[in-house]
Amino acid sequence: MCGIVGYVGHQQALPLVLDGLRRLEYRGYDSSGIAVLDGRGGMVVEKRAGRIENLDKALATDHPGGITGTTGIGHTRWATHGAPTDRNAHPHLDTAGAVAVIHNGIIENFAPLRAELEQAGVELRSETDTEVVAHLLAAALGAPSAAAPARGGADLATAMRAVCRRLHGAFTLVVAHRDHPDRIVAARRNSPLVVGVGAGETFVASDVAAFVEHTREAVELGQDQLVEITAAGYTVTDLDGEPVEAKPFTVTWDLAAAEKGGHPYFMLKEIEEQPAAVADTLLGRYVNGRIVLDEERLDAQELRDVDKVFVVACGTAYHSGLIAKYAIEHWTRVPVEVEMASEFRYRDPVLDRDTLVVAISQSGETADTLEAVRHARDQKARVLAICNTNGAQIPRESDAVLYTRAGPEIGVASTKTFLAQVAATHLVGLALAAAKGTKYGDEVGREFAALEAMPELIARVLGVVEPVRELARDIADAKAVLFLGRHLGYPVALEGALKLKELAYMHAEGFPAGELKHGPIALIEDRLPVVVVMASPRARPVLHAKLLSNIQEVRARGARTIVIAEEGDDTVRPYAHHLIRVPPTPTLLSPLVTTVPLQVLAAEIAQSRGYDVDKPRNLAKSVTVE
Ligand code: F6R
Repeated sequence: MCGIVGYVGHQQALPLVLDGLRRLEYRGYDSSGIAVLDGRGGMVVEKRAGRIENLDKALATDHPGGITGTTGIGHTRWATHGAPTDRNAHPHLDTAGAVAVIHNGIIENFAPLRAELEQAGVELRSETDTEVVAHLLAAALGAPSAAAPARGGADLATAMRAVCRRLHGAFTLVVAHRDHPDRIVAARRNSPLVVGVGAGETFVASDVAAFVEHTREAVELGQDQLVEITAAGYTVTDLDGEPVEAKPFTVTWDLAAAEKGGHPYFMLKEIEEQPAAVADTLLGRYVNGRIVLDEERLDAQELRDVDKVFVVACGTAYHSGLIAKYAIEHWTRVPVEVEMASEFRYRDPVLDRDTLVVAISQSGETADTLEAVRHARDQKARVLAICNTNGAQIPRESDAVLYTRAGPEIGVASTKTFLAQVAATHLVGLALAAAKGTKYGDEVGREFAALEAMPELIARVLGVVEPVRELARDIADAKAVLFLGRHLGYPVALEGALKLKELAYMHAEGFPAGELKHGPIALIEDRLPVVVVMASPRARPVLHAKLLSNIQEVRARGARTIVIAEEGDDTVRPYAHHLIRVPPTPTLLSPLVTTVPLQVLAAEIAQSRGYDVDKPRNLAKSVTVE
């Protein structure tokens, strides 16, 4: 939610900030804004509702000669407090127009702070929670003390620390001050912030994608830390001003990974990248008969003692958890509950130190999942994170971490990270089975080999999806689509429906096919498309037969049947209006192939309906508010 970028260096700030914003637009895209310091006590601020193009146009009209200055900040917004209007767009300024603030997150105590400012005679100009920070900062700077002299670099940081100590909630805040044009101050709590360290230039951003074109040397900021950046480097302290040693890292991917590579949308490129995403996630994970995680702060005995697993996640990641349940229970005989993270902590789940909570999140910053992790740890449960973002908050607060190595995912809808999550949960199941002795090393090796064969099979599906595109164009005008599956086909049906809802804005529902006659069958009407994820006739003959009956039931009531079935399964042919083939796979791994045509279907329908596949309305890539 919200993308943030700041720059201090030797180049003109505005183009760099705008480029950074474009790379962060996946985080929020309902308004955007910039502030640039000219170094002579002037600050230019421009902000507009809508996509960054609107800001570009405003800059061209209002500043035809360009804006010079080597220090700048920029923001792309996903609205929480106040509608997406010009006025509510960031940056927000204090009354004198000296301080510019951009923010990601929610300041939970903004109402009393706002009341306090209003009582002191300050006139607030927006409906946002952010604006209070600009005024509080101005007040803190205007009331110097021995610890906070009125001018000079240190006072901005000192004032900022004092303000941050008063804030509750989640924030990444970045501040520029027209009297301090050589620096930017930024702070974080529960929202991401990374520093990019170049030669004679320094960046801050919500995500390395904003600056990876200029430097791959980065520093991650911890909880409740503040960084002051200048062209020469950076200084990190905690909110009391104590120096902190920050953790540097090198970004392992380059700009090309964050570009579209000839595809009209990132999502289409990311669908194509799925074989590599799964292969990379598996690389080097099976060594000498054991599964290797990235960070293991759990010992073998603690894993052996696990007697219950909870998977907590949201949206697509939750669907990967539903899939994980089948493999983990099958291999370990440990009961697995899968729960939406947003519900988990509010119902007092039964947790103790022998419970393993597996938190799945591509971003590693989803507020619901993060709070579920914190609740689990408060209750003494062990937490293992599956995450696609190195050093994000969820892995930092977990006892063990397995990173999916899907690379940057820019399309708002998760695709390659989903498949990588499925592969990663299988690794967790195997690690647990090995620790508990429910599988011998050689059995783990065989399961791992089956996983390693999957990238090739996923590539095979991608090679034959052209008919899915045609089908998509054919059904793009339908009012609704139903998705049915049994066993592992059920979470796949849920994922297919979610993709269609979020991308094509169509009513779409996933059901267990057995539930059909308990209600949903009433929805079937003439020409309604119904997608059925078949089971394998070899591996699951009983489920296969039942699904065949379900297809006939909906077809008899006028539905257009779209069936995803294994190559060679000819029994379905007479009942399917459209047949989509996937290669035979071991049952537990089947979602890795059956999901792919559903992703393509949703993306193609969205394109046919004229929607932006990468930036569906009302959504953002990373949901850092509850
Ligand atoms: C759907 C989608 C979302 C996310 C969910 C969790 O395509 O992307 O449903 O899966 O918001 O996000 P992460 O995985 O970042 O915790």
